[in-house]
Amino acid sequence: MEEKSKVLIIGATGFLGFHLAQASCNFSHPTFALIRDSTSSSSTKLDKLRALSDAGVQFLKGSLDDEASLMEAVNQVDVVICAVSSKQALDQKLLIQIIKQNGSIKRFIPSEFGLDPDKVQISNMDYDFYARKAEIRRLVEAEGIPYTIISCNFFMSYLLPSLVQPGMKIPPRDKVTIFGDGNTKGVFVKVSDVADFTISSLDDPRTLNKVVYLRPEGNVYSLNELVEIWECKIGKKLEKNYVSEEELLKKIEETPYPDNMQLIFIYSAFIKGDQTYFDIEASSNGVDGSKLYPQLKHTTISEFLDTLLE
Ligand SMILES: NC(=O)c1ccc[n+]([C@@H]2O[C@H](COP(=O)([O-])OP(=O)(O)OC[C@H]3O[C@@H](n4cnc5c(N)ncnc54)[C@H](OP(=O)(O)O)[C@@H]3O)[C@@H](O)[C@H]2O)c1
Repeated sequence: MEEKSKVLIIGATGFLGFHLAQASCNFSHPTFALIRDSTSSSSTKLDKLRALSDAGVQFLKGSLDDEASLMEAVNQVDVVICAVSSKQALDQKLLIQIIKQNGSIKRFIPSEFGLDPDKVQISNMDYDFYARKAEIRRLVEAEGIPYTIISCNFFMSYLLPSLVQPGMKIPPRDKVTIFGDGNTKGVFVKVSDVADFTISSLDDPRTLNKVVYLRPEGNVYSLNELVEIWECKIGKKLEKNYVSEEELLKKIEETPYPDNMQLIFIYSAFIKGDQTYFDIEASSNGVDGSKLYPQLKHTTISEFLDTLLE
């Protein structure tokens, strides 16, 4: 049997990283996690560490800003996956240098896990959210490090629990706001499914130096379609309030940062169509991850909305 790559996860106590570490173990990869000294101080983090240890994850003490610990960790593995938060994207620079020096890392998956920063059409609006991720892409390419980028679009836990209603926590039962004409399609993927796709891609030659886009069947809908699915589930028509592009842009301008980021992401996905306007096959370095791994069972938007019914 082919030997499974040894995987290092950086950020395993975080939201996405925890699922990545679990998926790595589920797919039988020897799995290591770089854990900071400060991590153990929180009880939720302690619970996560316990769960990861039970799953077989081996902990290595260290931090992205501690060169010696990074070198030691990178030396023990074949694949490095980074899942630090978007604010820390540029903190990956030292890690990239160390991977370059190491020279035998078979794959690096940087902390991207969202929309494609090279494709989003909201320049100058996002406070460099995507510019930081693009800078890391350019660095990885320039250093010639073997990579895979996971462009998974929105996690289901983001915006979908409210049916894309800013400021709400649950889906509407009477009135719903629809941005633009409501016909532009967006993508939501469950975080544990993102983790399964990511781990499936790391030993796959088809994903070497590629951007893996996720648009699984049952997970790509417009706002009008999302509302229609929800209306069917609750057996009731909702009153619709349409907010035009101009009105949304005005609201973004009037709302202080970072509160306006949610509106900016809505503008990007559901007005500009940044998750779906381009053809994956036509992009020179893109592959459709949803088609590469048909055996992976994933949660559809309809199944997710069922969990919100009560
Ligand atoms: N597509 C979407 O809808 C969506 C939504 C959310 C996130 N994301 C993306 O997913 C990725 C991960 O984000 P997240 O929200 O899961 O992050 P998170 O929950 O904030 O977790 C960050 C992790 O990084 C670790 N970390 C922080 N600084 C570190 C350092 N110096 N050295 C080593 N580890 C360090 C933290 O460890 P401690 O426990 O020690 O703090 C934690 O485990 C990001 O690229 C983000 O943009 C996408």
